Amino acid sequence: MITRTIKITETVLRDAQQSLIATRMPIEDMIPILEEMDEAGYEAVECWGGATFDSCLRYLNEDPWERLRIFRKKFKKTKLLMLLRGQSLLGYRHYADDVVDAFVKQFILNGIDIIRIFDALNDVRNIESCLKACKKYGGHAQLAIAYTVSPIHTVDYFTELATKLAKMGADSLCIKDMAGIMTPDVAYKLVSNIKSAVNLPLEVHTHATAGISKMTYLKALEAGADMIDTAISPFSGGTSQPATESMVLGMSGLGFKTDLNMDRLNEIAIYFKKIRSKYHENGLLKLKMLYTDPRALTYQVPGGMLSNLLSQLTQQGLEGKFDTVLNEVPNVRMDLGYPPLVTPLSQMVGTQALMNVLTGQRYQLVSSEIKNYLLGKYGQAVAPIDEDLRQSIIGDEAVIRGRPADLLEAELPRLTEEIADYAKNIEDVLDYALFPQIARDFLGRREDRFYDIPIQEIEVII
Ligand code: CO
Repeated sequence: MITRTIKITETVLRDAQQSLIATRMPIEDMIPILEEMDEAGYEAVECWGGATFDSCLRYLNEDPWERLRIFRKKFKKTKLLMLLRGQSLLGYRHYADDVVDAFVKQFILNGIDIIRIFDALNDVRNIESCLKACKKYGGHAQLAIAYTVSPIHTVDYFTELATKLAKMGADSLCIKDMAGIMTPDVAYKLVSNIKSAVNLPLEVHTHATAGISKMTYLKALEAGADMIDTAISPFSGGTSQPATESMVLGMSGLGFKTDLNMDRLNEIAIYFKKIRSKYHENGLLKLKMLYTDPRALTYQVPGGMLSNLLSQLTQQGLEGKFDTVLNEVPNVRMDLGYPPLVTPLSQMVGTQALMNVLTGQRYQLVSSEIKNYLLGKYGQAVAPIDEDLRQSIIGDEAVIRGRPADLLEAELPRLTEEIADYAKNIEDVLDYALFPQIARDFLGRREDRFYDIPIQEIEVII
């Protein structure tokens, strides 16, 4: 048997805690273990982007950029990977190209090595700007397919998409199965097809929600996948990733080895077990989220979205409606042309399903984001949108067919002026660009809470 070395990305610092505890882990709970993690032999740690930025400002009173600089300082050997929502960056709408460039520059300047870039609709025009900036500042651009299931989203469709992403100039590719709904047979076919069509490293990302994830990873590896994403055991399972240690142990003997050090992994697991108990006690870690739920294969709802929906309903004392709302999600999705359920579309579709259930009348209330989606401001859905529904919500307003950001004028000058009272540097302006009110509050009460690590200067690679 030929043994192949598989690279592992650890997700506990981003996706695992996003999926299990709604991204509420502060940097203080991470710092004591970062150096140990750096010695474990991971290829990369997924540690930033996605909801972490939002959560730092909104809930944790933490400067997300400072968090990133701490990671860079502690991880000397391990690559830092972040997740980026294409032209929506780390927010919920499309930003102008000048904002995209400024953000990507700051990511790389502060130490990000790999930027995993995806577009919620798999509209590749929404990835172009991020890719260009990532190359310009010397980052590794990992372009990701947002995996979903629908009559349109076939293995052929995704293989063609992967080929397109490779031609655009990806440094590596990722199949991002954010809802954990990729079955082992599909993983095998899709990875085989992509590996024979494209000569690039391929990473597979899934979630344990439906209980099939380890089989999915195994079949993906058998088909030639180079890297997989896993979470250290105390933050694994349920809506998170499969456990790192279990995957490593399970793969060995099947022809797949890793560079991971089992003793180090055990130390990391012991540490995070303590951290986990804390969230368990304060109620953030919902036991429900840890149960294997094969219904995820029907709902196609990502882990982070499940835990956020439940927390929204619980706050209003309506957790009894959880299953009804989840049943409405596939209906809303069909009406909207089968968008993959990934940020920001997962929130948009989730909120719409919630409103449809709570008002008792479908589409009586529609968010401005859904209106913008129907206007084409997020790009093109792969399947047709229900035209009657579109008409009833946006009337005769013209639908955008081109790249949405082409219609956006440069935003940085206006944003810089608007937050001039509070902003000390470009990072503050970028916080404001993403979340105007939250950033204004945060910057207004900011204190120097953490280490004073100066912002680095970097040479621009053109
Ligand atoms: Co994920």
